[in-house]
Amino acid sequence: MMGNTFGRMFRITTSGESYSGGFRKNKGIPAELYGGLLTIVDGVPPGIKITSELIQKELDKRRPGQSRLDTPRKETDRVYVFSGVMENDFSTGAPVGLIIPNNDIEDAQIEKHRSYKDILRPGQAAYTYYKKYGQYADWLGAGRASGRETAARVAGGAIAQAVLDTMGIDVIGFVSELHGIKSCDITYEMAKTNYRRNELNCPDLEKADEMIEDILKVKAQGDTCGGVIEVIARGVPAGLGEPVFDKLSATIAHGIMSIGAVKGIEFGDGFDLTRMKGSESNDKPYFDKASGRVRFETNRAGGLLGGISNGEDIRIRVAVKPTPTISIPQSTVDVGKLENTTCQFKTRNDPSICPRIYPVCEAMVRIAILDAIYMAGGYKTVTDIDEKWDRI
Ligand SMILES: Cc1cc2nc3c(=O)[nH]c(=O)nc-3n(C[C@H](O)[C@H](O)[C@H](O)COP(=O)(O)O)c2cc1C
Repeated sequence: MMGNTFGRMFRITTSGESYSGGFRKNKGIPAELYGGLLTIVDGVPPGIKITSELIQKELDKRRPGQSRLDTPRKETDRVYVFSGVMENDFSTGAPVGLIIPNNDIEDAQIEKHRSYKDILRPGQAAYTYYKKYGQYADWLGAGRASGRETAARVAGGAIAQAVLDTMGIDVIGFVSELHGIKSCDITYEMAKTNYRRNELNCPDLEKADEMIEDILKVKAQGDTCGGVIEVIARGVPAGLGEPVFDKLSATIAHGIMSIGAVKGIEFGDGFDLTRMKGSESNDKPYFDKASGRVRFETNRAGGLLGGISNGEDIRIRVAVKPTPTISIPQSTVDVGKLENTTCQFKTRNDPSICPRIYPVCEAMVRIAILDAIYMAGGYKTVTDIDEKWDRI
């Protein structure tokens, strides 16, 4: 399996899946090391304070079993810092290694998965994984296609944020739409004030109640629903992103689109721009005497021009599909017998992925931005353009 690294200069490499550690039980291996997730973070500068508590705070946002809106699976998602950090928790500049053991590997659970391993779950990645990995494909809890894989990214993203903190860059994600129920327009300030004030992390507190009620109704029907996540990055300097193929918009989209269940991304007003005239969609620049910088009257472009950051907030919207595993009977294929069949799953899944996916979106945006900062910094060392362009 290739493609387990994201980023060029600041990058994370992840490994691990849901339950494969269950097959290494009782072989003289300490319980914490049966299996789980690993993250190696490359490009961490020396002198950054990295504690397991700092990473745990981020992981706890996506940890399952916390509310009525997510899976009752008991994954503790406890993280251990394994390398790259020394006295007083300061990074040494070496790669930071993180381990997240999975202690929720019950034999009964493994056998349950084995009993329907040949039955393709509609909406899940099993068919395409069987195409690529054949009889060796991980059938136990979706393997690398499992939502659990995203914990490793969130751990890496927490370290990216620790570096971004030193530069005054903040990245915040939240739910803005669920199953067609839309929140009001949410500003950065509103998102900060109401961050995680409800189980869904929707800053529009009134609409959040409506959305939560809807999820519970859908859950009671054995069904699931999707929604929209928004991410705002504030304090991002202008000039990040490398034309042409490595635009910042392209690397952010790469990171976001690599998350399971994500079906689309918009920057700024995105698809709404297609319904406007140029006179309505253009963000007009003005010279702001107070800051000595070029600013923009509006931010329909979502903080990017030519794929390069323009100094305004980077704003994205992410489309998240309904959780594929549902308890309602569906038609499918038994790939063992090669015949059509029906399936009905009674598993511990999320009625909506939205309350757990926003920290994953935050993590990928953090990594993409920090990586772009390193790239832009490297490029700058070999240019001699007038300092004026730096200031404005
Ligand atoms: C945080 C998170 C949690 C998820 N939880 C579940 C789940 O409980 N059940 C499920 O069927 N899919 C879940 N998924 C979705 C699958 O990972 C994903 O839909 C599947 O691999 C198919 O990939 P695709 O939707 O990108 O095509 C989750 C994804 C994420 C990011």
